[in-house]
Amino acid sequence: MRKLVSTITGREYPFERLEEFADNGEALEVVMAGIEQARPRPGQHLWERFAEFLPFKAMDPAVSLGEGNTSLVDAGGRLKAFTGIDRLLLKNETQNPTWSFKDRGSLACVFMAQEMGERVTATISTGNMGHSIAAYGARAGLKPLVFVPEFAPREKLMAMTIHGATVIRVHAPDYAAMKKAVLGLAREFNLRIVSGNGPIRAEGYKLTAFELYEQMRGELPDYIAVPTSACGHVRGLFKGCRELLAAGLIGRLPRMIVVQAANNSPIVSAIKQGAQHVIPFANFHTVAEAITTGNPMGGDEIIAKAYQHGWLAEDAVEEEIMEAQRVLAQAGWFVEPATATSLSAVRKLRAAGRIAPAESVVLMLTGAGLKDPDALKHQPSKIVESRLDRVRQDVEHALS
Ligand SMILES: Cc1ncc(COP(=O)(O)O)c(C=O)c1O
Repeated sequence: MRKLVSTITGREYPFERLEEFADNGEALEVVMAGIEQARPRPGQHLWERFAEFLPFKAMDPAVSLGEGNTSLVDAGGRLKAFTGIDRLLLKNETQNPTWSFKDRGSLACVFMAQEMGERVTATISTGNMGHSIAAYGARAGLKPLVFVPEFAPREKLMAMTIHGATVIRVHAPDYAAMKKAVLGLAREFNLRIVSGNGPIRAEGYKLTAFELYEQMRGELPDYIAVPTSACGHVRGLFKGCRELLAAGLIGRLPRMIVVQAANNSPIVSAIKQGAQHVIPFANFHTVAEAITTGNPMGGDEIIAKAYQHGWLAEDAVEEEIMEAQRVLAQAGWFVEPATATSLSAVRKLRAAGRIAPAESVVLMLTGAGLKDPDALKHQPSKIVESRLDRVRQDVEHALS
């Protein structure tokens, strides 16, 4: 038995539902009977090992692009000194096929599309999700269709079109309005338009929690810090943890750290103020271009979970984001600004004593630095323009 249940009021819907949210706008999640008895089993792929936790009837290995299996690495002295956190680990999701965590969700969406006999895989995106859906659509022989807002960066659109996606650029007063309108078309066109916070994507992101569980040999960290926009990643990760707990495989839940850019912090502001509902942001600008959902649908669930489970929430102002991107790069990890927000956030939370000295923290490195080349214009760069008749002096100078 598998069904969709709305995450606050518990309304039930069939698993095959095309719309991504409940009729009252709440996020939906997959509920499966018997999760308490689910157990990992041997298998080559993560989704094979955790098949009993997943709702899909058939999972064709041929649609995988080799996602997952990303490194969990000790953050090293520099980042530990910067944050003041000794037990700091990085989960490098930039190692996924399209260089972001989105690929795990796209795999789940393609499993679902195949099960339902769909020909098209469609989404709304400013970049990473569209790129990922385009690649997985191409791999599975589905037609990728991506709706983008007019401000979506050209390089990201090119990444979608090279995989053969049809890109529809929608001019609208704001991104939230555009998303709502496009999602509203789903039933009319009998088209599953997957959103960043849809129930099927969350099933894909669950896999990251399972992978962490394997990599940490049955333990999970005290905290997992997640840069947040549509809210799909943080809730999928946490759902995976909840299911591990329900199955008796872990003894306690890690706490999530919800991170946003201060210029667009609809969830973090709400949690900090003790509000129950998303505080919408509009007409903002942030260098963290990948986390720009100003009014995330289903965001109230995340706020409710934050109070219920003692999560933390923190933001980063523009200068802090750029600093964090630099510091991560100087330690060896080149990530996009949206990803860098969490380094700054955990540093502030540690300084404020919200994270205790002995507690362990995993930072999710959600997207690679070259995904947002435009942001680099805000970073200093030192390039020595040389010539053949001067290169010796320039080398001497560089080595001095
Ligand atoms: C690099 C990066 N980090 C974080 C996020 C936030 O994830 P979510 O929208 O699932 O909250 C996104 C989403 O678009 C992203 O592209």
